[in-house]
Amino acid sequence: MTDKPRDTKGRRQLVKFSFYRMDPGWRALPENERERGRRAVADVVRAFSDRLQIRSYSLVGTRGDTDFLLWQIGDRLDDIQQLAGFINGTAMGPYLTMPYSYLAMTRPSLYVSREEARAERMQLHPGDSKYLFVYPFVKTREWYQLPLGERQSMMDEHIRIGRKYPSVKLNTTYSFGLDDQEFVVSFETDEPADFLDLVMELREAKTSLYTLRDTPIFSCVAMGLEDTLDSLAGTGERRNAPETEAAWQKVGEVSDSPPGSSRVVYYAGDQVAIFNVGGDFYAVSNRCPHANGLLAEGVIEAGFVICPSHGSRFDLASGRPLEGPAARPLRTYSVRVEQNGVLLGRPRAEPQPT
Ligand code: FES
Repeated sequence: MTDKPRDTKGRRQLVKFSFYRMDPGWRALPENERERGRRAVADVVRAFSDRLQIRSYSLVGTRGDTDFLLWQIGDRLDDIQQLAGFINGTAMGPYLTMPYSYLAMTRPSLYVSREEARAERMQLHPGDSKYLFVYPFVKTREWYQLPLGERQSMMDEHIRIGRKYPSVKLNTTYSFGLDDQEFVVSFETDEPADFLDLVMELREAKTSLYTLRDTPIFSCVAMGLEDTLDSLAGTGERRNAPETEAAWQKVGEVSDSPPGSSRVVYYAGDQVAIFNVGGDFYAVSNRCPHANGLLAEGVIEAGFVICPSHGSRFDLASGRPLEGPAARPLRTYSVRVEQNGVLLGRPRAEPQPT
């Protein structure tokens, strides 16, 4: 590469994609043993949530060789390594392998000059999308021998195509020297069809001539960690499990949620909407069970929330759908206030649809 590295000041993050596979023997275990393993993994992930952003995704049914992904973003490799070690040490550990593992870092793109956009590349902020598509990526060595201006004009075309699909958010991370691939790219979207169209169109771009490898591709479905672990062997009965002190997690201060407000927090990988209704706190899954509407953006009405997508109305205390197209209840979470902090507990047993 002939051009000098540009300024990479600012905090760069380590990014890890750990794809786990579950031994089929896990499914034959009694439910109480599986519950013990799921709880142990969820407790470990919760314990690391002050050091790592961790998002969980199920691949059950989308790939044959891996079952779930833990996407981790943090500042220290030690935290990533310790998390893997602690998960191995749980009751689920003997049944887990990691057939795919990708380590990367953030850095500004060589081909984006706008300062703001360059700064954005340094810090990843996973969104609320239902799907994540991930693949490792390697360019040919010829690419790196091309003059920067030539690469820039090809990348401009590539970027222009990407902008035609605003529903797809791209995260590019860099693995040069850290791992076998050069990049790990991940695309967040609610619209898999848009992602497919984008990838097809990019095949016609000139940059595609310089792709050496861009497989395997992982199609991942966003789920809270406990749902992800449930998806490995069907639905468990853990919703009725008793609350333990270890399950409570502080997710903010009372002052972060003034009366009448809502906000999104993460609890062991679950995306949870917290509502303050006249001083009473409620916590429910942020995803509407009808079609994934974002409930934290809904209208709050004395103990109810109305989904912004198609108007389903839910009781915040029980999660029951009362009006609209949603047939299934919302998951609710235990919530309590302690010393001006807001604490979330495990998901509650789901009410039966009425
Ligand atoms: S997504 Fe909530 S009502 Fe349709």
